[in-house]
Amino acid sequence: RKLMNSNKNIVFLGMMGSGKSSIGDLISKKLNIPFIDIDYLIEERAGISISKIFENKGEDYFRNLEEKITLKYLKKKKSVISLGGGGFINNNIRKVVLSDHFSFWLDWDKSVLLKRIRNSKKRPLASRSTDQEIKTIMKKRIKIYSKAQFKINCNTLTKIEIVKKIIEIYELN
Ligand code: S3P
Repeated sequence: RKLMNSNKNIVFLGMMGSGKSSIGDLISKKLNIPFIDIDYLIEERAGISISKIFENKGEDYFRNLEEKITLKYLKKKKSVISLGGGGFINNNIRKVVLSDHFSFWLDWDKSVLLKRIRNSKKRPLASRSTDQEIKTIMKKRIKIYSKAQFKINCNTLTKIEIVKKIIEIYELN
């Protein structure tokens, strides 16, 4: 069963701090279609914050829950879906995203992301890693993120320009 383009979801992926949630929310409002934030749904299901999940139950538990919830919501049609930073790294999630949906990678320079991540308390992966470790994670992930259907180089763009670019691509496809 192949989805018609107009029924495909618009999926945002990329590192922590790349703006998946904030851009996703703006795009959903502009297109007037539902917005689904996977991190939020994971917290809602678990009843505790992502930091607490990592702390109390460990990363493997988090990754399992992330896979389950992400695959469930990817079955929706014509929604905007913001993945967690590790979502697209999961083989099962990536396969579905690439075969059935539009995927946008929000790409930024490592140094910009590092600064944003460092200022955040709600990112357990970042708070337990050194700058060098985070850069190593980024390097590994970039190879995988780059499989996305569309790459948006965000470095020189304003938020409004990023949104405009995504809408243009979406309407052409
Ligand atoms: C993670 C990113 C987070 C969240 C969790 C793990 C990651 O999402 O899912 O802390 O592995 O990159 P954001 O990218 O929305 O911060």
